[in-house]
Formats: sequence, structure tokens, C-alpha cells
Amino acid sequence: MARPKVSIIGAGAVGTATAHWLAQKSIADIVLTDIIEGLPEGKALDIQQAGPIAGFDVRLTGTSRGYEDTAGSAVIVITAGIPRKPGMTREQLIDTNAGILRHVIDQVVPRSRNGVFIILTNPLDAMTYLAYKVSGLPRERILGQSGALDTTRFRTFLATELGVSVSDVDAMVIGAHTDKDMVPLASLANVRGIPVRTMLPPERLEAVVARTRRGGAEITELMKQSGFTAAGAALVEMIEAVLLDRRRVIPCSVYLDGEYGQRDICIGVPVIVGAGGVERILDAPLTDAERQAFTASVAVVREMLASLKL
Ligand code: APR
Repeated sequence: MARPKVSIIGAGAVGTATAHWLAQKSIADIVLTDIIEGLPEGKALDIQQAGPIAGFDVRLTGTSRGYEDTAGSAVIVITAGIPRKPGMTREQLIDTNAGILRHVIDQVVPRSRNGVFIILTNPLDAMTYLAYKVSGLPRERILGQSGALDTTRFRTFLATELGVSVSDVDAMVIGAHTDKDMVPLASLANVRGIPVRTMLPPERLEAVVARTRRGGAEITELMKQSGFTAAGAALVEMIEAVLLDRRRVIPCSVYLDGEYGQRDICIGVPVIVGAGGVERILDAPLTDAERQAFTASVAVVREMLASLKL
């Protein structure tokens, strides 16, 4: 049987990191596309040529000539878009990226009707919602990558603070995918079941939460460019969960239809991710403060959705 195909739309920083991490898993052939002529072709060749050393023999195809090569993909990752530039309002970013996303969805969905779509383009929750509305696909097959990245940052900072392996730290970030509005669930964070709040004084736990919120901004300030390596790894965590039907529990932005008391919105919540995309949305027990923070997060996303011209 042929290997499944994963298409990555947008061969920029995150798209390339995703292809790189994914190739090493040897679980899918990879198609990388972009509108910049030569860019995806070159990136695909560059990664392919690491195969003999890294030990993978999956096929990488780069193309800037349309979307034919994406046909029949099991998973389609959309990173195409522009980052927010200095002086640009959030509404302007929404307008520009919504235009790009609509075009991409129009092109890729008819070619991969049975695929699972993972959105990365910002503002994430608004773009995931747009993809759901425009694609006409069942909500199970549209996921936004938000919590996977925020969560890996939260786990990293907790492990550093506690002096334990990241492998033994479990935690989750839900809510909107923005610095101010994400909701790191400190009450549920644990080390092999031991609640983190019994291991760290409140102010140190609060400092870890604050650093998690600024996880992306800290990197951007340092290197004057958004992070991409962890974002690629986060996408591959989701891709692998789908391709191997792993039923991983990953917070993702998904369309809510009554879960968490919300309807007609995409926002980060814990999801069982498997072959069908969203297999189930899990109900996490939140403290009053976390529930309030989640409600505030919902309000922020609803404001963004209002500026989508649907
Ligand atoms: N089709 C395909 N690719 C496109 C399109 C399009 N219509 N429009 C833009 N692109 C490509 C750009 O040419 C660029 O190579 O998307 C790529 C985005 O890559 P980067 O600018 O390097 O951005 P990256 O850091 O990878 O972030 C990806 O995440 O933060 C969000 O909204 C932001 O869209 C950005 C995404």
C-alpha cells in the first residue's frame, strides 16, 4: 500500500520545520507548496538530501505550480499567510490572511475531500472558523494548531522550574491562541500525577504561567522572527495522531457545538485526535478562575469572528 500523503501549504519557516520533523518519522510522503517560485522545490530537495544520513526514504515533492500534487492527501496543513507586521491592526491581518485562506481552501479541499485539515495561519481561532465555514467539511476534520504549541512550551517551562524530565510533566493550555487570552491550566498540571501546585509556591507557578503566555513573544523579541521549530513539532504531533490513529489528547482549536457551553466558535479545548480528526472533545474540570479566563478568551475570539466577512 502506498504511504499516506501529507501536504503542507506554505513553505515558509513553520511549513519547512514541519516537513523536516515529519520526514524523520517516515510515516508519510510530503508535498510542500508555496506561491514563491522555487522555494518549495528547493526546500523539498534540501530535506530529501538529508535522508541517507537521517535514515528516511519518504518522498518529498515541492511545487509552486498550483495544487495538483496535493490531490488525495490524508492530512493537509495550512501555514500560508503573512505574520502581523509592525503597525498592522489585527483586523488588517484578518482581512489579508482570510483572503489567502479562502483561496487555499478553494483549491485544496476539492482535491482531498476525505482529508483532515490542520490550520496554522493566524489569527488562529478565526482562521480555523473560516476554514470550517468555507470548506463545508464536517467539523471533525478541521483542527487549528494552538494548544499543542502552547502546551509544549508550558511543559518545557514547568520541567525546567521543577528540575524534572519534560517526559514526566503533563499539562495543557486551552482557550484562544493569543498571548493574553490563552488559558494554561495550572490546576491540572502534574508530574506523574502529583499536582504541580503542591510542588511549587504559587508565585513561581504564576511566573511559569506568565512565561508560557509570552512563549512566542519571548522568541520573537530575541530573534526578530517568530519561532518555527516547536510549532513544526506541534503540527507533527497532530499529524501523527491522525495518520496512526493514535487518539492522542491534544488541545486544538475546534468548532464547538455546545461543548464548554459555547456554540458557533472555534477555540482551543482538549480533543482526542485520531484517524477521523476530532474523535471526541473532552470536558476538563476547570477552577472558577480558569473558567472565567476561558469565558474571557471566548469573548476575544467572538470579537475576531465579527470582523470576518463571511
Ligand atoms: N499559497 C501558498 N503559500 C502562500 C500563500 C498562498 N496563497 N500566501 C502566502 N504563502 C506563503 C508565503 O510565501 C510564505 O512562504 O506562506 C508562507 C508563510 O511562511 P512565513 O512567512 O515564513 O511564516 P511562518 O513563520 O511559517 O508562519 C506561518 O503562521 O503566524 C502565522 O499567520 C502567520 O501565516 C503565518 C503562519
